[in-house]
Amino acid sequence: MPLRLTPLEYILARLNVLPVPLFDELLATGIAHVLVTACDLGVFDTLGRREMTLSDLASELQCHPQGLELLLRLLVSAGYLRQRRERYRNSHMARRWLLHDSPTNIAPYVIHSPDIAALWEHLPRLVRTNQQMMRMPYEEDTSSPETQRLLARHYAGLASLALALGDEIIHRVRLPAGAQYLLDVGGSHAGFSALFCRHYSHLHATVLDLQPGIEAGQRTAAQLHLEERISFIGSDIVRDDFPTLLATDYDVALYFHIAHLLPADVNQAVLAKVVRALRPGGQLIFLDQVTDQTHGSHLSSLMVQFMALTVRTIGGTCYPFPTVKKWLEKLGMTRVRAHRLLTPGASLITAVKR
Ligand SMILES: C[S@@+](CC[C@H](N)C(=O)[O-])C[C@H]1O[C@@H](n2cnc3c(N)ncnc32)[C@H](O)[C@@H]1O
Repeated sequence: MPLRLTPLEYILARLNVLPVPLFDELLATGIAHVLVTACDLGVFDTLGRREMTLSDLASELQCHPQGLELLLRLLVSAGYLRQRRERYRNSHMARRWLLHDSPTNIAPYVIHSPDIAALWEHLPRLVRTNQQMMRMPYEEDTSSPETQRLLARHYAGLASLALALGDEIIHRVRLPAGAQYLLDVGGSHAGFSALFCRHYSHLHATVLDLQPGIEAGQRTAAQLHLEERISFIGSDIVRDDFPTLLATDYDVALYFHIAHLLPADVNQAVLAKVVRALRPGGQLIFLDQVTDQTHGSHLSSLMVQFMALTVRTIGGTCYPFPTVKKWLEKLGMTRVRAHRLLTPGASLITAVKR
């Protein structure tokens, strides 16, 4: 993390002697740009092949050595690179999280992050009016090349997060014995479906999503050789009626990062369709930023509140556990439980259909 304070700096910050807003504004924004630039240029993947001198790296990346050196020095200060003598190499952090061939590569999410940051330009007007500022990217004209590029970055980013961090979720829940059919509502990139299918060898997943999402999911299924076990149904989960789309009763349904996109009444209506698609005894697994589930962690709280504010610009928000519990119990779900995850940010809620 770029803001690594020495013990003295930590004490001074706690004593309110250091100008913390200066660091929050300039350094946090600056490091975000530096990281995206480095991922876009391919700095980490190139150094992943071997340590390099500045001039070798500059010629490989087709950069000006002096311009590149400024970027590399910042990446060293932020803990992403190490420099010894004349050579640069990736830190452990960069090796684990930012290399193309790492199973926990989240560089695609880093590259997608400026699209999220762009939403914050609407903040002053949002705060004054509390109105939705723009349509969800999914509702834009998907024939436009710009929207296609944006959605491709979005789904690639989400897929990378799911595949890098999703194992914790798979191990945290226990599917009903003998579960065979999983429905992944708004599951697009299919990263979570793929992890469940890999863990439960008899499971078959059906992903419901809009067409661009499905194309991303088909790529994931092909990459992981799971084409036989993941099917896709193009559907608008808000407008379409599920029974006409689905051929079976499901043992499990995932509702992952959907709630924050939708107003409360729409969530209730979509969840009603999801619950109807489950067999009695079937399990609903809900994953999202849940506003009261931050467990005293500042990092969690920041992530959850950021999401709540950001998605307000596109008409969504984040909800507390009692609200989600009320929605689910009204729909006949029992054993509604919140589960804490080690990775800060999202929380898991499970429930069982009577
Ligand atoms: C934030 S993403 C979450 C994706 C995935 N479930 C995850 O947790 O990473 C929201 C997903 O909902 C899908 N989505 C949004 N509105 C939808 C709609 N009306 N019908 C179907 N899918 C929709 C998007 O395509 C996208 O895949």
